[in-house]
Amino acid sequence: MASADQDVVIQDPLHQPLPEELSTDEAQLHRPSWYAEMRREQPVRYDEERERWDVFRYEDVNSILRDHETYTTTFGSSSEGKSMFTEDPPEHGRLRNFASSWFSPRTLREKRTRFEEIADELIDDIEPGNVDIISEFAHPYPVTVIAESLGLPIEDYEQFIEWSDASLRVPPRTDEEDEITVEEQETAIREMNQYFSELIKERTDGDGNDLITIAATNDNLSHKEKVTFCHGILVAGNVTTINLITNALWCFQEFDLFDDIRSGAIDRKQAIEEVLRYRSPAQSLLRRTTRPVEIGGKEIEEGELIVAWNGSANHDPATFDAPEEFRPERKPNRHIAFGGGIHICLGAPLARLEADIALERLLDRFEVIEPDLSDLSPQATPFGLKSLPCHIEK
Ligand code: HEM
Repeated sequence: MASADQDVVIQDPLHQPLPEELSTDEAQLHRPSWYAEMRREQPVRYDEERERWDVFRYEDVNSILRDHETYTTTFGSSSEGKSMFTEDPPEHGRLRNFASSWFSPRTLREKRTRFEEIADELIDDIEPGNVDIISEFAHPYPVTVIAESLGLPIEDYEQFIEWSDASLRVPPRTDEEDEITVEEQETAIREMNQYFSELIKERTDGDGNDLITIAATNDNLSHKEKVTFCHGILVAGNVTTINLITNALWCFQEFDLFDDIRSGAIDRKQAIEEVLRYRSPAQSLLRRTTRPVEIGGKEIEEGELIVAWNGSANHDPATFDAPEEFRPERKPNRHIAFGGGIHICLGAPLARLEADIALERLLDRFEVIEPDLSDLSPQATPFGLKSLPCHIEK
C-alpha cells in the first residue's frame, strides 16, 4: 500500500483534451484563425466528444474567470493534498495567501542578481553555432530558477530536472524521440513528492526564505498540502515559462524585432506583454458551473465543464485593436494570459522577471540570435514549440 506521502499526485491543470479542430500541427500553429472563426460563428458551443462547453469571446471569458462562485475550479473529491488550483474560498485563500509575499515584485527584485547569474552560467556553456535554444537555455533556465526558489540543495538539481521533465511529460533533453510514458510520469511524481516530503520535515523549524521552508513552517497547512503546494509550483511555473521565453524568441524573429529590442528602441518588458497576449503560453482554463447559467444566448446547466479560451480572448477585436498584429508598444494591453479573478497566476511577477532576464542576458551575450522558423513543431499545451533551432554568434 502507498504511504500517505506517496499518495500525493496532483492533476496537471495544463493538460486538457484538445478539440478535434486543433488536432494537427498546422492548426495549432495558426490558432488565431480558428479562434476568429469560433468567436464569429460559435462563440459558445458544446463539444460532444470532449463533453464540455467552449467559450471564445473576451467579455465572456473574462466574466467567467472573475466569477468563482458561478464557475468553480473544484472538480470533485480527490485523495491528494488540497491545492489552491482546485479550491474555492475560504480554502483557496488559506492555500495561497501564505506564499503571496514571496512572489511580490518587491521581494523578487532582491533575487534578480542571483537569477541573472543562473542565466549567465547556462549561457557560458552554450557553444555558438546552430543550437536548439530550448534544450540549451529556455528549458533549463526556469527549472533551475524554480529549484533555487524552492531551496533545493544544488547537488540535487540534475535529479530534480529529470523528475520535473518526467512529471510534466516533457521529452528528455536528448535526441530520443520517445515521449515519457504514463508509468514513468507516475513514478517521477511519487519520487519527487517523497523528496519534497522529506525536505519539508527537515525544515519545519527552519528560518530560510525558500518556498519549501515557507510552506514547511506554515501551521495552517497539513503535511500533504505542503507537498502538493511544492509540486503545484513546479507544474504551474515550469513549462509555461519555458514557452514564454520560446514564444518571445519566435515572435521577435518573425516580426524582425531583435535589433530594436537590443538597442532599447522597443521596450523589452512591454514587448514581453505583447508576447503574452499574442502567443499566450496557457491558452485555455477549465471551470465547472455551480448553477444554471446563460452565456452568449446558450443555456448551460449546473455541473457542466466550461473551457474558457483565454488564448482566443487575447485576440478578440472587440477588446484589442488589430489583434492579429504584433504591436510591441501596445498600451494598454489588457491581456488575460495569466487568467483573472481569484486564481490569477500567483507566479506572474516571477514569470515576467525570468523572461526579462532571459532575453536581456541572451541579447547581451550573443551578437546574433537567428531562430529558424522554417519547420516549426508546436507543443499543444501549454502553447509553445518542441524545439527552436537557432543560429547564434558571440
Ligand atoms: C508565462 C508563464 C506563466 C503563465 C502564462 C501562467 C499562467 C497561469 C494561469 C492562466 C493561471 C490561472 C489558472 C486558472 O485560472 O485556472 C495560473 C495560475 C497559477 N500559476 Fe501561473 N503561469 C505562469 C508562470 C507561473 C510561475 C513561474 C509560477 C510559480 C513559480 C506560477 C504559479 C501559479 C500558481 C500557483 C497558480 C494558481 C493560482 C490559484 O489557483 O490561485 N505560474 N498561471
